[in-house]
Amino acid sequence: MYFIANWKMFGVLNSLNSLHKVMNFFKSFKKKKSVKIIYCPPNTLIRPMTKRLLKSTIEVGAQNCHENDSYGAFTGSVNSSMLKSVGAKYVIIGHSENRQFGETNRMINLKIKSALKSNLKVIFCIGETLQEKRKKITKKVLSKQIKLGLNKIKDNRNILIAYEPVWSIGTGLIPKPKDLFDTVYFIKKRMKSNKVLYGGSVNPKNINQLKFITNIDGYLIGGASQDPKKFIDIIKKSYN
Ligand code: PGA
Repeated sequence: MYFIANWKMFGVLNSLNSLHKVMNFFKSFKKKKSVKIIYCPPNTLIRPMTKRLLKSTIEVGAQNCHENDSYGAFTGSVNSSMLKSVGAKYVIIGHSENRQFGETNRMINLKIKSALKSNLKVIFCIGETLQEKRKKITKKVLSKQIKLGLNKIKDNRNILIAYEPVWSIGTGLIPKPKDLFDTVYFIKKRMKSNKVLYGGSVNPKNINQLKFITNIDGYLIGGASQDPKKFIDIIKKSYN
């Protein structure tokens, strides 16, 4: 099971002081062998976080990368090899918060290719909006995002899919268990081999419901991941 913390644009150096709680918990967690914890902080914290986690099996990832895999005049941007060089092992690509501001499927495809070339594992986010859900075109939307996002990528072993319905991100809403099971089933069938995570308002309460959806391979957790107590709670409860 994957537990991926997406810190979004939160966190300064001091925020790393809370990491020891999660590290200590994880050190003695009985189900440790079957769990992967990955923190995706803002780029400014990748290096210091990697250093803090040196003695832990918790890994670090980034939240996005530029589509260009060489260097260039792209003020304010960071490419995949730069992320790799400071310790990132993963990168989130295609998050709806970026799609919303103009990130296209084509850009996402280039970003994924670049990340794989830099030996980063990809957390590829897909998901439908509320409007698309109401129109009952969720599967069509996901299919298109997968097809275009993974265009000409033959080896998808290093790609995790994060199914994140846009309407559930940060809203406290989660899909009905049956819908979620069906959608994850659909994605897995379409992708053949990949692991599929769920993301969107995962918290210590609704994990009691989510954990019974047996085809989910983990969670991408935003808000709740910034609070070590909540994050630990989610992990623990997934196994009770
Ligand atoms: P949330 O965010 O858990 O705060 O809804 C999830 C995400 O955006 O990855």
